[in-house]
Amino acid sequence: MKILVTGGLGYIGSHVVVELQEQGYEVLIIDNLSNTSLNVLDKITAITTIPPVFEKVDVRDKESLATFFTKHTDIKGIIHFAASKAVGESVENPLLYYENNINALVYMLQNIQDQETSFIFSSSCTVYGQADELPVTENAPIQPAESPYGNTKQIGEEIIRDTCKVTPHLNAIALRYFNPIGAHKSAKIGELPLGIPQNLVPYITQTAIGLREQLSVYGNDYPTRDGTAVRDYIHVVDLAKAHVAALSRLIEKKGTENFEVFNVGTGTGSTVLEVITAFEKATGKPLNYKIVGRRAGDVVEAYAQTDKAHQVLGWKSTYSLKEALASSWKWEQAVRGK
Ligand code: UD1
Repeated sequence: MKILVTGGLGYIGSHVVVELQEQGYEVLIIDNLSNTSLNVLDKITAITTIPPVFEKVDVRDKESLATFFTKHTDIKGIIHFAASKAVGESVENPLLYYENNINALVYMLQNIQDQETSFIFSSSCTVYGQADELPVTENAPIQPAESPYGNTKQIGEEIIRDTCKVTPHLNAIALRYFNPIGAHKSAKIGELPLGIPQNLVPYITQTAIGLREQLSVYGNDYPTRDGTAVRDYIHVVDLAKAHVAALSRLIEKKGTENFEVFNVGTGTGSTVLEVITAFEKATGKPLNYKIVGRRAGDVVEAYAQTDKAHQVLGWKSTYSLKEALASSWKWEQAVRGK
């Protein structure tokens, strides 16, 4: 069964491709290589021994995308990752984010609305903002977005919901990711941020390897157990498995509605200081860090209620925070040749 993965050479996409291949799916990848390289294709092949079919296509290019879909009429499912994800950059350049994340989504849906297709959208826990009740359930109200990036996830879900209403043969799931970290156990694929990392775990591993001098911990005056902010860190391989579980539900037409949303997290919140301690324990490396002021736009606490994914998709996370951090570290060492 042929599955299209857009952005399949990116961080999460590449892990999903591996998981799909390992579960017997035939994978077709499109990627514009804007934030990754063709090298990842070789790494995927080295892990699974099956070279995925790859075409360099930019999903924002309406004509190329239409040409691609006229050539490939046997795609049964689509997992759509091709999008931008840097919160700060989206504030600086909102139109880039609306073009990359919204135009491209509309073009994708226009191309598939006439055929029976399963569609998975990468959403984010950012849609909840600071939820009133924790753990956050899928029914928690959507809050006004803190950034154009966050807004594209909210609008993206709405676009799919509206399209599904008038397209009964389109079956879609939005997965609301909490904080993906970690890397494949082979250390052949992982997260490779361009420039200075904005996210916590790549900043930690780059500090430990000596690329950054010191980690700044953004705020220790939050109303949490140690004053630092709480997030739900999920191993990217667990996250990848959630996509395959969601895809099976869509393909087997088990959905109760043709658009559903699921949280994908571990259900456990960790503070920034707990992440640092877990990293130090997992790797035996002390981390140089200092406490600085809060970062604008950060929520205090976000961790997932995962019952829906467990009960409906039969999925739950398996890796501990320590295991996930150890895999991030192994990846960082492999990338730097250390
Ligand atoms: C951020 C986005 C989220 C997005 C995700 C994708 C915000 C508010 N949220 O999640 O919408 O889906 O990235 O990449 O930007 N921290 C430090 N020092 C650092 C980096 C981070 O202390 O150098 C802290 C943060 O303040 C936060 C936690 O670590 O408490 C996690 O931060 P990060 O990895 O950037 O993820 P989020 O902010 O949760």
